[in-house]
Amino acid sequence: MINNSTVIGIIRIVLILILLLNFKFIKCDDTTNTINTTIGNNNNNNSGSNNTITNEPLCPEKPWCPCICQECGPPIGRKNSKQTFVYISGGKQSNYTYFEKDPSVKWEEIDTMALYSNKFDKRITCLAHSKNVKIVFIVEESNIFDNFKYLKVNGNYWDGYINTTRLGNTLLENNVDGYNLDFEYGSRYGKDQEFSNTLKTLYTKLKSMGQGYQLSSAFGSYYGESLKNQIKTVANYLDFIVIMGYDLINTNAGTNITNSANSPIDLRTIVKKWWLDPLNPSDSNKIILAIPWYGYYVKCELTDQQKSNPATIFQSDCIVDNSKVLQKPVKELIRLLNNDYILLGNTSNTIKYSSGILWSSNTQTVFSRYRDEKGDIYQANFDTPYSIYLKIRSLGIGGVGVWSLEKIVDLPQPIIDSYYFAFSKNNIGDKYIEYK
Ligand SMILES: *[C@@H]1O[C@H](CO)[C@@H](O)[C@H](O)[C@H]1NC(C)=O
Ligand SMILES: *[C@@H]1O[C@H](CO)[C@@H](O)[C@H](O)[C@H]1NC(C)=O
Ligand SMILES: *[C@@H]1O[C@H](CO)[C@@H](O)[C@H](O)[C@H]1NC(C)=O
Ligand SMILES: *[C@@H]1O[C@H](CO)[C@@H](O)[C@H](O)[C@H]1NC(C)=O
Ligand SMILES: *[C@@H]1O[C@H](CO)[C@@H](O)[C@H](O)[C@H]1NC(C)=O
Ligand SMILES: *[C@@H]1O[C@H](CO)[C@@H](O)[C@H](O)[C@H]1NC(C)=O
Ligand SMILES: *[C@@H]1O[C@H](CO)[C@@H](O)[C@H](O)[C@H]1NC(C)=O
Repeated sequence: MINNSTVIGIIRIVLILILLLNFKFIKCDDTTNTINTTIGNNNNNNSGSNNTITNEPLCPEKPWCPCICQECGPPIGRKNSKQTFVYISGGKQSNYTYFEKDPSVKWEEIDTMALYSNKFDKRITCLAHSKNVKIVFIVEESNIFDNFKYLKVNGNYWDGYINTTRLGNTLLENNVDGYNLDFEYGSRYGKDQEFSNTLKTLYTKLKSMGQGYQLSSAFGSYYGESLKNQIKTVANYLDFIVIMGYDLINTNAGTNITNSANSPIDLRTIVKKWWLDPLNPSDSNKIILAIPWYGYYVKCELTDQQKSNPATIFQSDCIVDNSKVLQKPVKELIRLLNNDYILLGNTSNTIKYSSGILWSSNTQTVFSRYRDEKGDIYQANFDTPYSIYLKIRSLGIGGVGVWSLEKIVDLPQPIIDSYYFAFSKNNIGDKYIEYK
């Protein structure tokens, strides 16, 4: 029998230990953990956004301390010879559990994560650095230039003032490793050397803070004259050039969508002619092709004959009708293959026939078709690990990216692993090889 005084004695010792641990061994910073970040927003409009950082404990090792994670240290160096550059969207930047626990976040396969800074949870940087992964903030035009959207001095958008102090402070405050510009620059703004001058300002600032800080920028796969004239200088002031290898599909009503793809095989030629060829060979390791982990899904316009013929499910004619065209993450499109209903907008239709996965040889991507009880056909065009593998193999570039990581959550692990495998260093190769 343990008597009462023993129990009380034990409780006393435990309490003393807890006090000792709190006051002696756990040293917390006095810093408040709610700061105001001034950049990073989905909608190019800072004025109404709520950028207050989540008011939760910040250090995984000291979960109850409101401290900034100094133990995370400065930015890490380059990890692999080929980059895996993943975008993260859908508000995940404030979900620490996702980064800590979700089996689709394969840290060992990732080099850089680019995410928005809205309500950013700083513990994510600590976790990423402990896995040797960089975190960069995605920024839009208006977030870099003060009054960029509105200040059109001399008829020129690029006269906005860049506050490099503010940009630098934001990195330090969040312990993150750089910026990924999401101007989607290609044929939009700027003339002469305006874009490269902007990059020079930002790049010089980041590198003055430390060589580990990283600057990258996203670009449309094709570009206009203004970028063409400064492409080599642009490459000088970037660590990575992220080519957006998606949204190349034509979803206009009346289009035969089977001949069009979100991310067609022709991207290989685009990467070669528009990026590898014009740039210095030494810059080819800066080129990253970002591919989509999402697809498009439409309702097809059918003739009466097609509507009455069940074999239409296996044909490849899909003339886009006037309904809304939807973007869907691959996790949903793959799940759809096993469903007996389909959602378009918020109406649910019962599926009578489902085609399984079909192949478009023109675009070398996949599609799947669904026929409801009324005879209507719905078609989803998307990418599987195999179609991504074909796009990427022997490109000889610096790495591969994806928009966006959270779009494979909850898929069976072997499919997740194949999506990652399509990015592998051996698949990218060191030399561009054309396949006929
Ligand atoms: C954050 O911004 C608010 C409103 O502009 C201000 O009142 C507050 O003092 C700022 N907090 C910090 C830590 O700078
Ligand atoms: C920016 O956001 C604020 C608040 O949401 C809104 O009042 C304002 O009209 C927006 N400005 C632009 C240019 O969209
Ligand atoms: C900002 O976010 C905090 C925490 O999520 C919330 O409590 C607050 O109401 C938000 N403020 C605005 C103006 O949206
Ligand atoms: C955060 O992420 C986890 C793991 O992916 C998920 O289960 C959870 O629903 C997410 N929470 C929110 C609020 O989105
Ligand atoms: C630049 O940003 C810093 C830090 O936020 C601020 O103190 C300074 O006033 C800004 N400079 C200008 C010219 O706006
Ligand atoms: C639509 O495209 C498919 C695949 O290339 C082709 O087989 C079919 O003939 C096309 N249909 C029309 C009406 O152009
Ligand atoms: C579903 O769609 C109808 C008609 O477009 C709309 O009125 C309704 O609000 C929608 N419901 C939801 C939950 O989105």
